[in-house]
Amino acid sequence: MTFTKAEWPRKLRSQEWYGGTSRDNIYHRGWLKNQGHPHDQFDGRPVIGILNTWSDLTPCNGHLRELAEKVKAGVWQAGGFPVEVPVFSASENTFRPTAMMYRNLAAMAVEEVMRAQPIDGAVLLVGCDKTTPSLMMGAASTDLPSIVVSGGPMLNGWFRGERVGSGTALWQMSEDIKAGKMTQEDFLEAEQAMSRSSGTCNTMGTASTMASMAEALGMALSGNAAIPGVDARRKVMAQMTGRRIVDMVKDDLKPSDVMTKAAFENAIRTNGAIGGSTNAVIHLLALAGRVGVDLTLDDWDRLGRDVPTIVNLMPSGKYLMEEFFYAGGLPAVLKRLGEADMLNKDALTVSGGPIWDEVKDAVNWNDDVILPVEKALAQSGGIAVLKGNLAPGGAVLKPSAASPNLLKHRGRAVVFEDIDDYKAKINDDALEIDETCVMVLKNCGPKGYPGMSEVGNMGLPPKVLKKGITDMVRISDARMSGTAYGTVVLHTSPEAAAGGPLAVVKTGDMIELDVDARRLHLDISDEELEARMAEWTSPVDPPVGGYTQLYYDHVEGAETGADFDFLKGNRGSEVPRDSH
Ligand code: FES
Repeated sequence: MTFTKAEWPRKLRSQEWYGGTSRDNIYHRGWLKNQGHPHDQFDGRPVIGILNTWSDLTPCNGHLRELAEKVKAGVWQAGGFPVEVPVFSASENTFRPTAMMYRNLAAMAVEEVMRAQPIDGAVLLVGCDKTTPSLMMGAASTDLPSIVVSGGPMLNGWFRGERVGSGTALWQMSEDIKAGKMTQEDFLEAEQAMSRSSGTCNTMGTASTMASMAEALGMALSGNAAIPGVDARRKVMAQMTGRRIVDMVKDDLKPSDVMTKAAFENAIRTNGAIGGSTNAVIHLLALAGRVGVDLTLDDWDRLGRDVPTIVNLMPSGKYLMEEFFYAGGLPAVLKRLGEADMLNKDALTVSGGPIWDEVKDAVNWNDDVILPVEKALAQSGGIAVLKGNLAPGGAVLKPSAASPNLLKHRGRAVVFEDIDDYKAKINDDALEIDETCVMVLKNCGPKGYPGMSEVGNMGLPPKVLKKGITDMVRISDARMSGTAYGTVVLHTSPEAAAGGPLAVVKTGDMIELDVDARRLHLDISDEELEARMAEWTSPVDPPVGGYTQLYYDHVEGAETGADFDFLKGNRGSEVPRDSH
């Protein structure tokens, strides 16, 4: 990848606001001076927006104001003018019905905030799951120089001598309670042990995955993904990022220069190597749509097939992000991919140079955390994309989190029409279900829920759990938390609420899953399937009014990233007309 730096000095867009002597210039500049900025600060230096997703109700990002101060320090040091700007913060653990419903809203807001204001470049201060993709998507659509700095993961959770992984332990313990293996009192005591410092989930859940994706895409400085949120080196990272964005603006190094097809290929392979979240599939497809890169589900399958999962982190493995950092973090993994000829070494990063330069000297300090290939958690660790008459548009499964003995399975479907139906029936001992069955959940996709909730890893029925069984094949049009595990087929497309074949599966049908063959098949005749589809009517009442209607009317399928149809593409940073 060749990149030609822009001439410097030159007039930046912020000077349209601040650079002259007109009435409007004075209006823009004079009001900002009420914060005590001296006049020479408006002399044409890069104005850097620090887009901060801090919120008291986004606890994973609760420390970002402190980090923002470090970013500011870096911007000052490099001769820029930092301005901290709060942006929409969709918290995974508080937003209902699901934070995913608001990813596009947040992205839209970020795009407009960047375009409408005198910002020459942006530091995207992110952490919790949706905050990373939403800010990257918004920034991509303006194509202003942008760089990610993550809040970093929480320290390890520990409970009675065992690691407690964010999310992963929650799913495990709630199943243990249903199986009678854990008391409610112990569960409450463990709650306190799960989240013992600032930061994002400490497993390789969606937050850590997306931080890794940002780094693998080249959109963050090398090493950004794994430094714990409370480690002093996280503050150094924030400061270095602040310094770097100033030079990126001077060079005019834009998201579209960095997020090329080669960069996305690197990210997809990285996701396989780290055992990353299935949510990355949706977010990267949406992000590619913003920068105009032709990326499809087939790319995920093609590129991930040969990638071994070598990062031994929960939910696929044993350790947590803190240990991943000590072992060398993502640079050590990228180096391994490069050595295996699975990295586009020339892909440009925000550093201004090729990614290989950033990682070629990385060291793996613990080969039980970053495993040798022969000890990989899964040899074919990339996201498997399944196709068949049940998922003509595709469905995904994470092999490293699945049970090897279930990757080829034929079973009787037990159907839940929606999440309420599932909740009403699952604990009923009269439900005809055993471990050989295939649990099917409908109407949890983007339009169906609406918002595409993380309910695809539906808990097993207690009567199965009590036999000591911990996994069954589950199929839905939902997503699952990146911290979850199991033989779970997700994102089945088209979704049931859009009239996909999933909508017409009946309890008692036989379903075949063959991950090696990438096949998901409903074992009924084509004629029967056609007849059922002809009779189908949507059980979902389209929402009327407000954002929910906008979402329902415009959200696309999971197979292309569940972005809004009208938000795809890069609309640039030009303001349509002057303000006065
Ligand atoms: Fe915010 Fe996991 S819930 S990072």
